[in-house]
Amino acid sequence: MPVSQFGYLGIGVSDVHKWEQFATEILGMEVTERANDGTVYLRMDEYHHRIALVPNGKDDMAYVGWQVPNRKEYEEIKAKLLQAGVEYVPGTPEEIKNRHVSDMVKFDVSGIPMEVYIGPHVLFERPFKPGRPITGFKTGSLGLGHVGLNPQDPKDFARVAQILQECLGFLPSDAGADGTERFFHCNGREHTAVVGNRPSKKRIGHFMVELDSIDDVGRAYDLADEKGIWINQRLGRHTNDHMISFYMETPSGFGIEYGWGGRLIDDKEWQVTKHDQFSMWGHRRPEKPKTKEEEAAVRKFLTSSSTPQTAQPTSR
Ligand SMILES: [Fe+2]
Repeated sequence: MPVSQFGYLGIGVSDVHKWEQFATEILGMEVTERANDGTVYLRMDEYHHRIALVPNGKDDMAYVGWQVPNRKEYEEIKAKLLQAGVEYVPGTPEEIKNRHVSDMVKFDVSGIPMEVYIGPHVLFERPFKPGRPITGFKTGSLGLGHVGLNPQDPKDFARVAQILQECLGFLPSDAGADGTERFFHCNGREHTAVVGNRPSKKRIGHFMVELDSIDDVGRAYDLADEKGIWINQRLGRHTNDHMISFYMETPSGFGIEYGWGGRLIDDKEWQVTKHDQFSMWGHRRPEKPKTKEEEAAVRKFLTSSSTPQTAQPTSR
C-alpha cells in the first residue's frame, strides 16, 4: 500500500488561542512550537507535530498529509496522480520547512487540499508531554487517526474515492447501506479516510483521535461537559471500527471524535461490508439549544478567557 498513514492535519483557524486551549486542556495535546509564520504545532507522540494550526481565519481543513514510507512509493504515487489527471505541485522550500518533512507534493481533489510526503520530523529525544494527564494517543504506524473528507461538489464523491484508491493505494473498508459515506483504510486501522456525499460548507467533516485508555475518553467527556463544549454525539460504539467514542465541536465548528478501543484489521482476512447503522449503541445527538441563553451555556468554553500554554523552543 503506497500511503502508509494519515500523518498530519493542517487546520485553518480564526481563534488560535482558543484552539490551543482546547487542544491542550481538553484533548491532551502539547504545543510544540509557535513558528514565526504564525503556525502553531500540536504534538501527540514522537512526531514534531501531528496537527498544525494555520491562522488563516477559514475554520476548515488547510491540508491533509498522507505519509508514504519511502522515495520509491513516493515517485510511484506522483506518476499515478498524473495518469489520473491530477496535477500536483511540488512543495516550495518554505512549505517543506513548514510541514517538517523531507519532501512533499500538494494537489486538490474536489476542493480537498491533499499532500503526499516522505520523511516526517521525529523527536524521540524529547518525550511527548501531554497538556493534561492522559495515558497517550494511539498513533505509531496507524497514523494520527481518521478524517472525514467532504467533496466541494457531492457529485465528485466517486472521483475522490477513485483517487484515494487508484493513486494513493487506499483499500475499501465498508460503506453505509444507502451509499452515503464510504470508508477506506491504508493500514491496520479499520478506516483512515471517510468520503461523504452530502453537501457541506467545510471540506472536513470531522477527524478522530484514539486514546490508549477508555478513562482518557471518559475524563475528556466530563471536561467537555463541565467547561461548556458542545457534545454533538454522546458516547457510543461504532459498527465498523468498533470505536467507543463521543464527538465534540472544535473551536472551528467542525467535529472531533475522541475514542478508544478501535479494532485492527488484517487485509488477508478483511471482507468489505455495508451497514444500516453506524453505531451498535449510543452516539445519540443531544437536543440543540433553543434560546440564546441555552446556546451560551452549552458553548461557554468559546467565550471563556484563555491562557495559552507556553511552548518551549524547538531543538532545531
Ligand atoms: Fe469517525
